[in-house]
Amino acid sequence: MISNPFYYGGAVKKEHFCNRVSEIKELKSDINAGLNTLIYAPRRFGKTSFVLKALDELKEQNIKYVFLDLMYLSTIDEFINKYFNVLAKSLEEPTDKVVNFFKSILKIRPNINVNFDAAGTPSFSLALNSEDKTKALEDVLNIPLSFAESGQKIVVVFDEFQEISNLELEAKLRSIIQYHSDKVAYIFMGSKKSMLHAMFLDKNRPFYKSVKHFKIKEIKEESWSEFIISKFAKTHKEIEQRYISKIVEFTKGFPYYTQQFAYELWNSTQNQVDDVIFEKTLKMILEREEDLFAVEWDNITQNQKKALKIIIGKNGKNLYDEQYLAKYQIKTGSFQTALKGLIQKDIIDKTADGYYFQDPLFEFWVSGNR
Ligand SMILES: Nc1ncnc2c1ncn2[C@@H]1O[C@H](COP(=O)(O)OP(=O)(O)OP(=O)(O)O)[C@@H](O)[C@H]1O
Ligand SMILES: [Mg+2]
Repeated sequence: MISNPFYYGGAVKKEHFCNRVSEIKELKSDINAGLNTLIYAPRRFGKTSFVLKALDELKEQNIKYVFLDLMYLSTIDEFINKYFNVLAKSLEEPTDKVVNFFKSILKIRPNINVNFDAAGTPSFSLALNSEDKTKALEDVLNIPLSFAESGQKIVVVFDEFQEISNLELEAKLRSIIQYHSDKVAYIFMGSKKSMLHAMFLDKNRPFYKSVKHFKIKEIKEESWSEFIISKFAKTHKEIEQRYISKIVEFTKGFPYYTQQFAYELWNSTQNQVDDVIFEKTLKMILEREEDLFAVEWDNITQNQKKALKIIIGKNGKNLYDEQYLAKYQIKTGSFQTALKGLIQKDIIDKTADGYYFQDPLFEFWVSGNR
């Protein structure tokens, strides 16, 4: 049996990864220059896949990386130990060598614990007591610098970085890593744009203007065409170009949804995609998201609902249109407040081109149902 050539869920690599060629080149050169970057994009936009692909390619230049997801960390102790563990593991050395190395570089007298799981994989942690915790934190934050100084280039990725402010580590982290300047490259990632923006664009916050803002874009139709058509062909099925256009019109090139659509379409197709199969797939994908969208809709104010409809009606441009505001019975001031609220909730965003929905399927659902 031939298996489905598409995939959606966690990070993708190799044959499941489509395009982003120029973005990968740019990120690699930023890393080589030791720049710190901020990468934000909506949920499921392909941030992790993209960054890991660029970093895997850098391994050939003997540049290592560590990846720490801050989403599930709730205390500073957890941060110290999870971070210490990924740093220790990145050494890829036998445990006793790792322990000795840290004994030589850490200023605190570290009590390093090593635990082995059922598969024999070690995990490292520090025995922390309250007196030396601040010191331990500083020490661990400086480990990447020690790596760099001993000749090992390293990139540190903090995913869901906005969470650092909940841990109350924002100022501390910044005060330490500013001295790592071009020796260690940091990548700050996340999907909560409004929170990240506040962290990096507010003059009173520690990370103000300390990074390059790296924007990843949706993947264009041409790239999807090649990707999807060739995967159908390799698995002895056929899809015409016009269907790719229809998929991308619906998903706006959003990676997760585009792969999901292609996956389901492939599953429903015996030999060749036709209109009936296409419509059935579209309906199924929308139905699957419906509950989530209904909750999202319930969670916004009446004025925010009106604002979303105006965005759809005006295609995101020249929104302050008297006729529209009158039609939806909303005053300019309230409309402005509603837009701000929607941006804060990461439901919409604004570019030089106008306003748009962060989630293309939610837009489709609102325009069809409400
Ligand atoms: N370059 C790509 N080519 C093809 N598909 C992709 C690509 N990037 C992402 N995808 C699709 O999107 C899905 C989610 O990707 P990924 O986990 O990298 O996104 P993310 O932005 O890190 O998500 P999250 O917000 O959950 O952290 C993948 O399973 C895959 O289906
Ligand atoms: Mg991710």
